[in-house]
Amino acid sequence: MTSLQGQRALITGASSGLGADFARQLAAMGCHLVLVARREDRLQALAAELRAKHDVGVEVVAFDLSELGAGRRLFERLQAASLTVDILVNNAGFGMYGAFLEQDAERVGEMLRLNMLTLTELSHLYAGQMRQRRHGYIVNIASIGGYAPSPLYAAYGATKSYVLDFSDALAHELRGTGVTVTCVSPGVTKTEFLDVSGQKPSWFQRLSMMTSEAVVAQSIAGMLRGRRSFVTGRLNAFLIWSLRLTPRFMQLQMIERMMK
Ligand SMILES: NC(=O)c1ccc[n+]([C@@H]2O[C@H](COP(=O)([O-])OP(=O)(O)OC[C@H]3O[C@@H](n4cnc5c(N)ncnc54)[C@H](OP(=O)(O)O)[C@@H]3O)[C@@H](O)[C@H]2O)c1
Repeated sequence: MTSLQGQRALITGASSGLGADFARQLAAMGCHLVLVARREDRLQALAAELRAKHDVGVEVVAFDLSELGAGRRLFERLQAASLTVDILVNNAGFGMYGAFLEQDAERVGEMLRLNMLTLTELSHLYAGQMRQRRHGYIVNIASIGGYAPSPLYAAYGATKSYVLDFSDALAHELRGTGVTVTCVSPGVTKTEFLDVSGQKPSWFQRLSMMTSEAVVAQSIAGMLRGRRSFVTGRLNAFLIWSLRLTPRFMQLQMIERMMK
């Protein structure tokens, strides 16, 4: 397997869930880390744990990535500290469950900026640097919700469709440059996601729920193999395969039922 020893990973949304597990698994592979999220106490505790366990450098940056221009400001801060990034994990994100018209418009805006704009900005800035060095990995976290319109997650699902299409196209544009873009689409995963989105797990989600450790292990393996885009878990992969054979009006009905 390719060695990541001594490389540096920037992980957004590292204070819980998938981001914290990316930090744990990449540190165990010898990567230095930059951990970003808003809850600094959580990031500091994780950083202390990983420095002690793995003898790697861990920087903590408390940052609200849903603000306009947050990606550029974060990039400039890391540049000023001479922190080169070899692996960018665009993981920070949240969902909003429920009827779109009942949702707070301001929070929807925050979600769109975090899930799409910041991810795009960071990809632009870091892919540019990585291409110059002819080396780098970008991992973008989408969702199986991005593969079809998602009633009850209408705006969230659409942000993940954007991540899927954007990542695929960028991976294609960067082929042969030494920079790979891997888009990972998890299904429901045991993290703080559902608490934040305001949903109790549906019957389908209880049936298909994966652990965060397993999703991250598959993500890193996919990244190292240079995979462009994949769904984590066999059941999720089967669901997405079968959705492709289903007309759009039926997808809407199916997904609404699976989310209740
Ligand atoms: N869990 C699932 O079922 C599932 C399924 C498909 C896709 N995903 C995707 O997986 C990614 C990770 O989510 P998760 O499941 O690990 O959920 P999580 O446990 O809620 O973690 C979300 C992370 O994003 C960070 N974050 C949220 N708002 C932020 C902001 N404004 N600025 C900076 N960081 C912010 C949170 O940190 P702070 O609150 O400390 O800022 C936290 O570290 C997301 O993109 C999500 O859409 C999750």
